[in-house]
Amino acid sequence: MMRHSSLFKVWFLQVLFILTWPVLAGCQERPDPFNGLKNKHMIQTLKEFPNKANRWNVPADDGRFLYDLIMDHGYQRVVEVGTSNGYSALWMGFALQQTGGSLITIEINRERAREARQNIEKAGLSSVVEVRLADAMDVLPGLEGPLDMVFLDADKSQYMDYFQHLDPLVSPGGAITAHNVLTMEYAMRDFLEALRSRPEYDPQTHRSSRQGILVARKHEKGEGR
Ligand SMILES: C[S@@+](CC[C@H](N)C(=O)[O-])C[C@H]1O[C@@H](n2cnc3c(N)ncnc32)[C@H](O)[C@@H]1O
Repeated sequence: MMRHSSLFKVWFLQVLFILTWPVLAGCQERPDPFNGLKNKHMIQTLKEFPNKANRWNVPADDGRFLYDLIMDHGYQRVVEVGTSNGYSALWMGFALQQTGGSLITIEINRERAREARQNIEKAGLSSVVEVRLADAMDVLPGLEGPLDMVFLDADKSQYMDYFQHLDPLVSPGGAITAHNVLTMEYAMRDFLEALRSRPEYDPQTHRSSRQGILVARKHEKGEGR
């Protein structure tokens, strides 16, 4: 028979494991998001970016993901819905500066749009990134295509509406990308189902992003699923 002190030890170790596991799991090593980048100004600008809790910026890993996506495909015409103070816009802007492209990014909040413009100017990206202060639902119907990539990161319950406006503008080979598809899936089920039901898209959720980034590439003509 186990003595009381042994039982207590087993119980204590179990509780300790349950309490520390999430912390240990979160500490698993992730690649450095700045790994392999050579542009010192870009690295310094992104590292010194004024992230604040109430600005909901994408993590640096996700910024790097967007940067690589643009660089890998040579994307040039990009639209972002949900600028906040411009962190993801800076990552994409630095990539677009190299591909010769440009970004239109839309923000409904006056103060955040002002901060974004300031951050973009400081980064030297004003000729690459245009911030539009507006409700995306007013801007998207008037946008002209073709677009290579869109990044959705505004009101999660409106992703379906953004998609309906942007889908016809995305060219074959281009991609619809969206943030928070793991953490806020419940708010965008209609959007996710619509994408999955469309044979010309190939939606993939990238779990390297803690919050989940979806990339749905539109097939080139003649490309099978
Ligand atoms: C998660 S934050 C964007 C973070 C940003 N992409 C970044 O990583 O730095 C979402 C932003 O979308 C904006 N937003 C929400 N609904 C919007 C709409 N209908 N049109 C434009 N912007 C909107 C919010 O004001 C908020 O600043």
